[in-house]
Amino acid sequence: MASRLVFCIAIVLIFLWSVADAFVYSPPKIFNVVNYGARADGNTDDSQAFLRAWSDACQWKGSSTVLIPGGTYMLHSITFSGPCLGEMTFFIRGTLKAPTIPALFFTDTWIGFHSVDNLTVTGSGYLDGQGASAWHYNDCFKNSQCLPLPSSLRFDFIRNSKIQYLSSINSKKVHINLFACNNIDISYVRVSAPENSPNTDGIHIGASTNIKISRVSIGTGDDCISMVSGSQNIDISEVICGPGHGISIGSLGKGSQNHNVMGISVRNATFWNTENGVRIKTWSPSWSSLASNISFQNIIMKNVGNPIIIDQKYCPHCPPSGGESVSKVQIRDVEFNDISGTSSSKVALSLQCSKLVPCQNVKLVDIDLAYKGLGVLAIASCSNVIGTSYGIQNPGGCL
Ligand SMILES: *[C@@H]1O[C@H](CO)[C@@H](O)[C@H](O)[C@H]1NC(C)=O
Ligand SMILES: *[C@@H]1O[C@H](CO)[C@@H](O)[C@H](O)[C@H]1NC(C)=O
Ligand SMILES: *[C@@H]1O[C@H](CO)[C@@H](O)[C@H](O)[C@H]1NC(C)=O
Repeated sequence: MASRLVFCIAIVLIFLWSVADAFVYSPPKIFNVVNYGARADGNTDDSQAFLRAWSDACQWKGSSTVLIPGGTYMLHSITFSGPCLGEMTFFIRGTLKAPTIPALFFTDTWIGFHSVDNLTVTGSGYLDGQGASAWHYNDCFKNSQCLPLPSSLRFDFIRNSKIQYLSSINSKKVHINLFACNNIDISYVRVSAPENSPNTDGIHIGASTNIKISRVSIGTGDDCISMVSGSQNIDISEVICGPGHGISIGSLGKGSQNHNVMGISVRNATFWNTENGVRIKTWSPSWSSLASNISFQNIIMKNVGNPIIIDQKYCPHCPPSGGESVSKVQIRDVEFNDISGTSSSKVALSLQCSKLVPCQNVKLVDIDLAYKGLGVLAIASCSNVIGTSYGIQNPGGCL
């Protein structure tokens, strides 16, 4: 009788234990890359140690942190994949360094995250892409040796995640690249690369939704932030850009698989010495798609070329006699509101829309842009635009 009771109790305990194992998460745990063999000597490739730490952290049923303590870590191309069993934090306190030997960098990713939910990448550390070793391979128009180069940080199929308190310097190509992501918060991020470094966009967004970017500072050789096909519900605020090419929607319309771009808001931004300010550009000729519900608000321009620009004739390196090619991307519901400062080009406001599908419902509200040249007024130039204007219009005469 007693033995049967003990047996029953044992069965019940085993049952409870397995239920607990399935439903109750373990306490948070830290996985320090140094304990997985990372050398942090700035020279030895620490990728395998990082991958082992990630793998254990990812299998931990609870929140886990991959910790990269102070020090300099050389990492070859590496991707951290999910799905993981719990929330993940990738805490970079040290400096991560990319290789400078060409055989090690002809790939599209330096540090990638793939298919992870509830990921936080943070820690006040530095990512040094060592781009100077690679930029000369990157100018496809000038260099027949043009080869694929890696984005410093790539996020593919990442959801409900945060990228915060990081510095990315001298990426070989895009600094932070988001593809097919949803619900990402990027804040307190700094990007820095030389003004003449090619294709080094700060943040590049494609096919992603519900992205919030705030309190970032980006000085680089290409776009500060660029948003292409399928970017929807993107909220950008408190951004400082410069040098670089400004904030850009596009280029749109290049491929047949074009998804619409909708719900983009850029607020409280400052541009310093950038080649453009806020820009929408579409290829000409192009496939058809829609770019709508876009607003640029409360923006300061300091010595910016093309502070406000819609360019539906984008085709660098096209033969000059491009013929009658037109863009089929429909741009509508776009507001430029409270944009002031100085333009380094005479045409401070340029809206060049498609002859085939003119821009619809464009609003200009309180625009005050002065040309830097002495005694010369800034001018506006617009074609194929339907819209309205209110308040200050300097330069005026467009709508
Ligand atoms: C991510 O967070 C959501 C919402 O809190 C939760 O439902 C989901 O289980 C989490 N997934 C992981 C892998 O932590
Ligand atoms: C326009 O986009 C904003 C985000 O920028 C969104 O909150 C709003 O609902 C959108 N409006 C329409 C009519 O889609
Ligand atoms: C943007 O700036 C305005 C005016 O300077 C301020 O009232 C508002 O709170 C700011 N918004 C954000 C999101 O910083």
